[in-house]
Amino acid sequence: MSRVLVTGADGQLGKCLRDASKSYNEHTFVFVNRTQLDITDAESVKRYFSESSFQYCINAAAYTNVEKAESDEANAYLINAEAAGNLAEVCKEHGTKLIHVSTDYVFDGEKGSPYLEEDKTNPISVYGASKLKGEAYIQEKCEQHFIVRTSWLWSQYGHNFYNSMLRFAEEGRDLKITTDQLGTPTNANDLAEALLGIVAADNDSYGVYHYSNEGEATWFDFAEAIFTHSGKLEAVTLEKTDHYRTFAARPGYSVLSKEKFFRHFEAPRLDWQESLKKLINNQ
Ligand SMILES: NC(=O)c1ccc[n+]([C@@H]2O[C@H](COP(=O)([O-])OP(=O)(O)OC[C@H]3O[C@@H](n4cnc5c(N)ncnc54)[C@H](OP(=O)(O)O)[C@@H]3O)[C@@H](O)[C@H]2O)c1
Repeated sequence: MSRVLVTGADGQLGKCLRDASKSYNEHTFVFVNRTQLDITDAESVKRYFSESSFQYCINAAAYTNVEKAESDEANAYLINAEAAGNLAEVCKEHGTKLIHVSTDYVFDGEKGSPYLEEDKTNPISVYGASKLKGEAYIQEKCEQHFIVRTSWLWSQYGHNFYNSMLRFAEEGRDLKITTDQLGTPTNANDLAEALLGIVAADNDSYGVYHYSNEGEATWFDFAEAIFTHSGKLEAVTLEKTDHYRTFAARPGYSVLSKEKFFRHFEAPRLDWQESLKKLINNQ
């Protein structure tokens, strides 16, 4: 039995972890949101860990606004890099295993075939660079770490592409959706199960891992699937574009190879469309 601390509990992944944890009665979970534990406040983090002991800490707290990060570099680095590093230091001091979530945006997208954990990183956005720096701090400060890179997270919770598309359908919008990126939409509920799979395995296979749903898609494919499977295709006008302007550059290709993860841990292995249908049918 482990005591597991989850930071960033009110975010999309934090909420999915809360739901998924209900099937893991053998473990005790403590969920803390930003108000209860601000991970940038090193003193509070130290105090928190000295008052309770945890076998695992799952860091679901992050600065995730990819666009805003371009003009808010200091905050992106503070949360994604410095705070992740502080958390790693405190985990090391208390013998807590740190499960940290990172991103496909640490890659530049030039590879053209699924990225392996050891492939060369080369972020092309502030967000990606800040997340990569966080990985480096964790690797340096806490040997007992599991860094799990994932991609294109969506779920029933929070601000994400899936919820935006459903809202646009309600509003009957005309939409132009980009075809210039290829990646894998990942249901954050499946990622939550995968992270809890690490806790359940309770082994010492520390290191960097990739986890996402299976298959690949453009954002246009993802939008079309959301509208099709939710029966809302008629509610919108959907058009492809290959030049959607954004502040932040994004990798043109960011499909991740998941083989290493599945060699060490149990987790849902679902095609992104299957996972999408499953969630829509259960809502
Ligand atoms: N979303 C994606 O498409 C995607 C893709 C690849 C990887 N990831 C990674 O997946 C992880 C989970 O992302 P998500 O989609 O669940 O993000 P999210 O919904 O934005 O949740 C992040 C949570 O962290 C909290 N937070 C921010 N600063 C904090 C601080 N200083 N102390 C404590 N909590 C803080 C946020 O609170 P506030 O709302 O108050 O700021 C929010 O509740 C992140 O590591 C992200 O980088 C995400």
